[in-house]
Amino acid sequence: MKNIKLAMPSLNAARMRRGNGVPTIRYTLESKYENIGAGKTYHIFTYGCQGNEADSEVMAGILEQIGYTKSTDPMNSDVVILNTCAIRENAEQRIWGVLGQLKGRKREKPDMLIGIAGCMPQEENATNKILESYNFIDLVIGTHNKGHLPKLIHDAYKSKMKVVEVLSCEGEILEDAPKIRESKHKAWVNIMFGCDEFCTYCIVPYTRGRERSRAKEDIIAEVEQLVKDGYSEITLLGQNVNAYGKDLEGDYTFGDLLYDLDKTGIKRIRYTTSHPRDLDEKTMMAMAECKSVMPQLHLPVQSGDDYILKKMNRKYTFEQYMTKVNRLKELVPDLALTTDIIVGFPNETEEQFQNTLKLVQAAKFEGAFTFIYSKREGTPAAIMPDDVSEAEKHDRLNRLNVLINEGYLNGHKRFVGEVVEVLVDGQSKNGEGMMCGYTPHLKLTHFKSDDLSLVGKIVKVKVTEAKTWFMIGELCE
Ligand code: 5AD
Ligand code: SF4
Repeated sequence: MKNIKLAMPSLNAARMRRGNGVPTIRYTLESKYENIGAGKTYHIFTYGCQGNEADSEVMAGILEQIGYTKSTDPMNSDVVILNTCAIRENAEQRIWGVLGQLKGRKREKPDMLIGIAGCMPQEENATNKILESYNFIDLVIGTHNKGHLPKLIHDAYKSKMKVVEVLSCEGEILEDAPKIRESKHKAWVNIMFGCDEFCTYCIVPYTRGRERSRAKEDIIAEVEQLVKDGYSEITLLGQNVNAYGKDLEGDYTFGDLLYDLDKTGIKRIRYTTSHPRDLDEKTMMAMAECKSVMPQLHLPVQSGDDYILKKMNRKYTFEQYMTKVNRLKELVPDLALTTDIIVGFPNETEEQFQNTLKLVQAAKFEGAFTFIYSKREGTPAAIMPDDVSEAEKHDRLNRLNVLINEGYLNGHKRFVGEVVEVLVDGQSKNGEGMMCGYTPHLKLTHFKSDDLSLVGKIVKVKVTEAKTWFMIGELCE
């Protein structure tokens, strides 16, 4: 099959960072695409971070706008899109596996359109592999161009060729695109895209492009609309939300945005992810002063060893990280702090790993995503010598997780006997007649009830039991 290559990815081009001025594009639909999905169905697989979940909501919105209806059955859908993640090798392995299954199905159902979107197509190696060995994929879409979906689908149908459009440049900001949100009471709100940090292990600055912030007016308007639509909680999204506004004119920062969003009437504001170096006093003050900003923070530390942190290009030390944490705990004494940690970074010694364990104890994390370092082609760390065996890396991860799990349990124990406010998500998966939701501190809480009218409401629950992964309580009202 021939390919239409509208644009191919290049890690070298993605490395470039130009000056200010990324254009904001207002999404509009050309009338010729209006009904191309009429009578057809779609299914989107979403992998990876909340950024991908938010992107999938936009792709679903666009697909429904052009006539497609959602299907829960991928193997019988007319359009199947895999919104992929490239952050670690095992994320990619899973996706190649699903593609293998779709390949068989496509033989039986040749008019099925299969698209691959998200971070994997932004990698040169992955896209070359798709072009060489995965010929049944019809559409290759990068992270910057989901707004072109109607045209790309149209071209793929018309030409019966593979359509590849992956832009390596910084992309634009897409406003006004339709969205089908997964939840009716909790919403993702992108405030910025991309990352300029270039941590040496990380592929994101290449796959997601340069940092670019949405205009505050657009963000505030979106949140005001969510309040009108009955939403209770928003999570502000960005790879490094603390850098919000740096690329815009003026000196409006992330802290200012929190103060402004607090005035919209939304009940709960969360944000992720933060970079410890950029977490500033104003943001911390906003956490203390704004009623709607929840007392919970995810602050990835990655390592507790100064030399490894330097090799990771994280631009802070153990001491500096702890100074921020201690200041924030002064301002928000009941703060629930969580983090990300990588073990087995190239040549990490046992002593350096021990420093990570020390930091875990000092920071009293109440949860963490912990990872074994995964080599990402094209990043600086990929060519660093590494003498740590796989067995040793696994052993470090296990030892770290023992401490982290104690942190989870302690984070739940401190609420036993207290009444907490739970924003109800729905029925619990583990247990008949149980419902569940999250507290302000982001603690998953199960309680006895089968009253589905509680979904989307904030209810009072008295915590009776703490487990490692959740709390159990009794409904007060
Ligand atoms: N290997 C392992 N973990 C990684 N992360 C990012 N890149 C890698 C990698 N190459 C982790 C970091 C980051 C989280 C989203 O994923 O901890 O904070
Ligand atoms: Fe990756 Fe570092 Fe950017 Fe996070 S801050 S996305 S770890 S480069």
